[in-house]
Amino acid sequence: GGGYDATFRIWRGDASGGELQTFTVRVNEGEVVLDVIHRLQATQAGDLAVRWNCKAGKCGSCSAEVNGRPRLMCLTRMSTFAEDEPVTVTPLRTFPVIRDLVTDVSFNYEKAAQVPAFTPRPRDPDGNHRMQQVDVERPQEFRKCIECWLCQDTCHVIRDHEENKAAFAGPRFLIRLAELDMHPLDVVDRRDAAREEFGLGYCNITKCCSEVCPEGIHLTDNGIIPLKERVVDRRYDPLTWLGSRIGRR
Ligand code: SF4
Ligand code: F3S
Ligand code: FES
Repeated sequence: GGGYDATFRIWRGDASGGELQTFTVRVNEGEVVLDVIHRLQATQAGDLAVRWNCKAGKCGSCSAEVNGRPRLMCLTRMSTFAEDEPVTVTPLRTFPVIRDLVTDVSFNYEKAAQVPAFTPRPRDPDGNHRMQQVDVERPQEFRKCIECWLCQDTCHVIRDHEENKAAFAGPRFLIRLAELDMHPLDVVDRRDAAREEFGLGYCNITKCCSEVCPEGIHLTDNGIIPLKERVVDRRYDPLTWLGSRIGRR
């Protein structure tokens, strides 16, 4: 019981173009958007392309835009929509479409490959690595990232400006830099890379990335802002500079 017929509008097409197609599809109690997409595949659109894996919000595969908002389809409950409200599902806008709801997210893997790798300091003479618990906990939040790319899709710096992609890595990789930067064993200084290769300065702290993260990671407050603070070297602080000039007179 409890089922109803919903109107779904799904973007169908490929790199050369496409359009929204409208379907009427059965929805059962307790279902999520991905369940309905699967029913559509099984009953009306056998060739609908959609990427998914875990159906549990853990693999990061089923990212799409539902009514224009970046979401994991497997975590988006149908009960959040009115029964007579059309549900529109479109591919991630920031990445090139391959087909239907599947986008080419290789931009993210290219940026990932550019992150200077974790480089631990030598072990203590007894062969152990020692860390304070408090230092271990700080970067731990960022380890929850499932690489769904919803933050990357949302950030206006690349969502609305294709030309920025070369210079800006996106929020997921800024928090990856922050995570490594906070790691108590790591010895690499990534401040220049953050500024120059990853485009940290492009982020103007709109916090949209933090709002869409399905893992609830506070990307901006706990990762990007602290990284910005670390990168602002004393040499570039106008007050310090002024102080040193006045002192010299
Ligand atoms: Fe997804 Fe959050 Fe990771 Fe961004 S930080 S890729 S939104 S899990
Ligand atoms: Fe983009 Fe997040 Fe900064 S949305 S502008 S990376 S705070
Ligand atoms: Fe794995 Fe949705 S299917 S996160």
